[in-house]
Amino acid sequence: MKRMGVMQSRRRWANASSGEGRLPALMLTLLSLLLLLTQRTLANGGPHGEYLSVTDACSICHRSHRNQNPELVYSPEGGNAFCYSCHDGTGASIPPIVSTHSNAAFAERQEASFELLCVQCHEPHGHESNLRSVREWLRVAVSPEVITGPVIFTSRTGSDSFDEMDGSDVDDLCVTCHINSANGGYPMNCHPGGDHTAAGGEDERGNDCTGCHRHDADGDRLTRDGFMPGDE
Ligand code: HEC
Ligand code: HEC
Ligand code: HEC
Ligand code: HEC
Ligand code: HEC
Repeated sequence: MKRMGVMQSRRRWANASSGEGRLPALMLTLLSLLLLLTQRTLANGGPHGEYLSVTDACSICHRSHRNQNPELVYSPEGGNAFCYSCHDGTGASIPPIVSTHSNAAFAERQEASFELLCVQCHEPHGHESNLRSVREWLRVAVSPEVITGPVIFTSRTGSDSFDEMDGSDVDDLCVTCHINSANGGYPMNCHPGGDHTAAGGEDERGNDCTGCHRHDADGDRLTRDGFMPGDE
């Protein structure tokens, strides 16, 4: 049920972006200039930043006149295949391989089946302060778009980490979607965040959740199990 919902909304989003919603060329140029001025620089020279010195980097992902979607090679319709074109473990420079956030291939799931787009959590042009290009404004839903945040993710433990122990959850990366009523599965069956005491576990808030909830639970990106719980 829920998964169908996600797929249908994805298609709607795609339709919108391939029709009159397209950015006119001038707008794109202006946006590009803005992007050039505001992006962070990456020390490692990867494609998700460092545009000030390597402006050619844009063409790796954006090639005009060569794609059905002239402004962007990326399209929500293609979904995560765009990201997997590099994040598949092949190629000269091998970026980390991950599975997207999903429980589709997780036998012990407690919620209905779901699968997220990478760009619901990541900003492909990098982020100036959040670790791992995590967006400041996460997309809880893609069509109609619902965003939540601002998410502060500047540390893996303690303050400004995955789910810090303070009064506010909306800025917590791992909770802000789970507590949002626009989330297809809202409210979650078990516990929405890192306090596992009600489920018989421990309160993990402030700890690095990826010790147990790895971005790729079994090391195979084809199995959709990103952030599902495993052994510590
Ligand atoms: C690693 C691939 C990649 C590179 C390199 C890249 N982009 Fe993008 N760009 C994307 C993706 C993916 C989107 C769609 C983002 C989304 O849906 O949130 C996008 C969206 C955009 C947009 C639409 C507005 C926005 O920010 O979402 C503009 C403008 C843009 N890119 C310009 C650039 C420019 C200029 C460069 C080089 C300085 C660049 N991009 C480099 C992947 C890339
Ligand atoms: C629920 C939000 C979410 C989604 C969806 C998501 N990511 Fe991530 N990603 C994160 C977080 C949080 C981190 C930092 C924690 C970590 O290192 O695992 C991260 C880290 C990464 C890293 C760095 C991993 C490393 O070992 O350095 C890569 C690469 C990555 N993501 C790519 C992707 C791709 C590609 C997709 C889609 C197939 C995706 N992500 C979907 C949240 C997400
Ligand atoms: C053109 C190849 C290419 C494409 C397409 C691509 N990546 Fe990457 N990505 C890389 C490489 C190479 C690295 C490692 C170097 C670096 O950190 O930039 C990387 C690193 C990352 C990281 C960790 C580094 C950081 O802090 O940002 C994340 C997160 C990530 N990619 C997400 C994505 C997502 C999400 C998409 C799809 C929107 C995507 N990538 C598409 C090549 C690519
Ligand atoms: C962009 C939104 C978003 C973010 C960010 C997010 N999640 Fe989720 N998560 C979901 C959705 C959607 C579900 C499905 C359940 C629901 O609909 O409430 C879910 C469910 C889960 C489940 C339960 C799966 C099951 O069936 O048992 C776990 C575990 C989980 N998320 C862990 C995490 C962790 C750890 C993080 C932080 C790294 C995180 N999530 C961040 C959207 C998100
Ligand atoms: C010691 C390992 C471990 C750590 C660390 C951990 N978790 Fe979990 N988590 C689990 C296990 C096992 C489950 C499944 C049983 C349960 O629900 O308690 C789970 C389940 C969940 C669920 C799913 C609840 C549902 O309704 O399906 C969420 C959300 C979650 N964890 C979030 C987090 C967050 C956020 C953090 C970091 C602050 C975190 N976890 C740290 C082991 C861990």
